[in-house]
Amino acid sequence: MSNQVEKIKELIELRAKARLGGGEKAIEKQHAKGKYTARERITMLLDEGSFEEIDMFVEHRCTNFGQDKKHILGDGVVTGCGTIDGRLVYVFAQDFTVFGGSLSETMAQKICKVMDLAMRMGAPCIGINDSGGARIQEAVNALAGYSEIFQRNILASGVVPQISGIFGPCAGGAVYSPALTDFTIMMEGTSYMFLTGPKVVKTVTGEDVNEENLGGASVHSTKSGVTHFTAATEEEALALIRKLISYIPQNNMEEPPYKPTDDPIDRLEDSLNEIIPDNPNQAYDMYEVISAIIDNGEFLEVHKDYAKNIIVGFARMNGISVGVVANQPKAMAGVLDCNASRKAARFVRFCDAFNIPLVTLVDVPGFLPGTGQEYNGVILHGAKLLYAYGEATVPKVTVTLRKSYGGSHIVMSCKQLRGDINYAWPTAEIAVMGASGAVAVLFAKEAKEKEDPKAFMAEKEAEYQKLFANPYNAARYGYIDDVIEPRNTRFRIIRALQQLRTKRQENPAKKHGNIPL
Ligand code: HXC
Repeated sequence: MSNQVEKIKELIELRAKARLGGGEKAIEKQHAKGKYTARERITMLLDEGSFEEIDMFVEHRCTNFGQDKKHILGDGVVTGCGTIDGRLVYVFAQDFTVFGGSLSETMAQKICKVMDLAMRMGAPCIGINDSGGARIQEAVNALAGYSEIFQRNILASGVVPQISGIFGPCAGGAVYSPALTDFTIMMEGTSYMFLTGPKVVKTVTGEDVNEENLGGASVHSTKSGVTHFTAATEEEALALIRKLISYIPQNNMEEPPYKPTDDPIDRLEDSLNEIIPDNPNQAYDMYEVISAIIDNGEFLEVHKDYAKNIIVGFARMNGISVGVVANQPKAMAGVLDCNASRKAARFVRFCDAFNIPLVTLVDVPGFLPGTGQEYNGVILHGAKLLYAYGEATVPKVTVTLRKSYGGSHIVMSCKQLRGDINYAWPTAEIAVMGASGAVAVLFAKEAKEKEDPKAFMAEKEAEYQKLFANPYNAARYGYIDDVIEPRNTRFRIIRALQQLRTKRQENPAKKHGNIPL
């Protein structure tokens, strides 16, 4: 065997060794937990054969606690690039088979390298987290490594999309990298995220709680809103990431991707002409409206199980990605509260950062009243949504279906928040407040002097309803650009979006604004 052939053989052997990560036993252990390895996950995530691995020969440099005798090629993370539907993405996947995927100094350097490449190339960065946290033996170097990653997460925010999959443990300060990224996907049953684990919780607060109830997928998808998506299997989670990527541009300088559609732009949806109940207090399902107007009813909902009184997610209209924000009358009558405001504000800001037009469907009775909301700062949370819409310079098309009252009318992408095209259905009620509330304020005293106060109030309510509970009052002032037939909504939105394709709008130059956090 020539010298060269021998060296090639050595390379092939080293590669095979690196690909085994922590070894066969550790891989078996991972599989026994119903989990895939880092490389298996990357293979499923990317287009077949597209993965280009880098830094396969990186090793940790720690000598504490006998670490100098334990070296694994590539250390605890697999990094590189590949494609999703032919589009470049950068990826890192923590390898639990190597020191429990715990973060070493060199591992952080590997992650930072792909993040830097993603920024230079203007491509999304996807991280699969499955790690015991900071590598204990590396002490402050592990902490410094996390800090380097967080700094890059911050600088990449709004420049390239960042997506985090949580496919196992993610605890302590490690949770802050996913929290800084745009979207988080958690695995049901096998992943958890918390700042302090159950044992510390017990010691500090006396509270008895297990990992699942402290920071499992169900907790973060329904209660905290930390995760945007959950998935039952790893295959499902990886397919979801691919789907999500299909809606968003590669970076903040690109237009959103276009996917040709066979759904006619002028498709009339007669069901929408009958969807609004006669009783203003009766609910209907906003999902029906959304699926009726978007391309082929395909909707990728974000934060599906969190703050269900508002719906946000991605769709396409005539092939172009749009971000849909819609009040849901079926959940808490579609009222805005702290969580709904935060959820929608974050989504609006993502769409604005990445040039994705916003389609807003309004049926909102107001903000939820009461101490519960006020003590939790609904003023600030509502202001976040107001700020997000007012700051957004992407095309903004708003359709008011029914109620649009008071502050919530303004917040939901009204004309004066630089709404480009604002339509209303004939059933729209755009006013300072609902009829019964308004009449109570205006005529309560007078009613007391009447023989039949109830009849008097009903009469005044009807008068108010006639005067204000319609779209024409707002249309008269140009606050609504047109009153449209509901069944024609898809066509009118698409036409509006076509008109807005060349929209150019800039905010005043500044270091950054001061969104009410
Ligand atoms: C070094 C670690 C490690 C860590 C796990 N391992 N976590 N090695 N540093 N942080 C090693 C284990 O020793 C073991 O090695 C292998 O990984 C697999 O771990 P197991 O415990 O056997 O796996 P499992 O039973 O599935 O338990 C997983 C786990 C547990 C729940 C994650 O390992 C664990 O509690 N780890 C410590 C978590 C932690 O407290 N991390 C520090 C958080 S603070 P062998 O050789 O036996 O296979 C933090 C600060 C970040 O991260 C701050 C950022 C700003």
